[in-house]
Amino acid sequence: MSRIVYVNGDYVPEEEARVSVFDRGFLFADGVYEVSSVLDGKLVDNAGHLARLERSLRELKMAAPCANDQITAIQKELIARNDLSEGVVYLQITRGAADRDFNFPKDATPSLVMFTQEKTILNNPSATKGLTVVTLPDIRWHRRDIKTVQLLASSLAKQTAKDQGADDAWLVEDGFVTEGTSNNAFIVTDDGKIVTRQLSNDILHGITRRAVLKCAEAAGLTLIERPFTPDEAYEAREAFSTSASAFVMPVVKIDGRILGNGVPGPVTQKLRELYIAEAKATAV
Ligand code: PDD
Repeated sequence: MSRIVYVNGDYVPEEEARVSVFDRGFLFADGVYEVSSVLDGKLVDNAGHLARLERSLRELKMAAPCANDQITAIQKELIARNDLSEGVVYLQITRGAADRDFNFPKDATPSLVMFTQEKTILNNPSATKGLTVVTLPDIRWHRRDIKTVQLLASSLAKQTAKDQGADDAWLVEDGFVTEGTSNNAFIVTDDGKIVTRQLSNDILHGITRRAVLKCAEAAGLTLIERPFTPDEAYEAREAFSTSASAFVMPVVKIDGRILGNGVPGPVTQKLRELYIAEAKATAV
């Protein structure tokens, strides 16, 4: 079924949506994006996503095409027009179209594109089974805190994982896990502590990560924000990843080593439940 998508002021059937070949997103990956999940037709943690969007734009000295409340109005209009109950709303802002030049154009108008994607988030079968991951070198640039559309390194890693029979890759730099290809990475140590890498330019500051850490704290679990090695992950009692599109996703095998009993562990399951309850309660 054809969707209605949003392109620079217009709601159009997806087949009719057009952007310029001179768009700097296309030529330079000069753009940023956000993915907000939708449950029961409502946006989850959207204020957090829009705050991060503002930060990404600021870091790249890119103008916002419109105010955040207008973006939210468009997100809601797309959810309504596409009758989306569960899935995600994708939004992308690029610096706009201008003749090809490495320097930023002086007068380009930023471009805003948005679309919806249906997705089973709550009853995702992977949440019951758990994912297998392989570790791969992190070959991305050094500003992973900015959510840019230059996703080729992540796409390559995810495809390499698939070619190796795994579901995803955890990326490793200087001997430590940074994050997953499109998610933040966590382990639960043998003594029950939740470990995830601290915020820096090395990882995306996940909106789900933040919410899950809050849930964990409220549940009285011990959190440690520090880097961990693949070896430590192999010995972990549990592991999981977080993202807006998969929420809390158990990881049951890393580089062929089975964690615990090879099924999603209790801490991961608890955090998934707590996060889902929080997401449902606060979605707007
Ligand atoms: N990815 N790290 C990376 C590299 C990501 O691409 C993402 C999200 C995350 C998790 O961030 P959040 O919890 O804010 O979704 C961490 C989105 C879902 C994507 O690219 O589709």
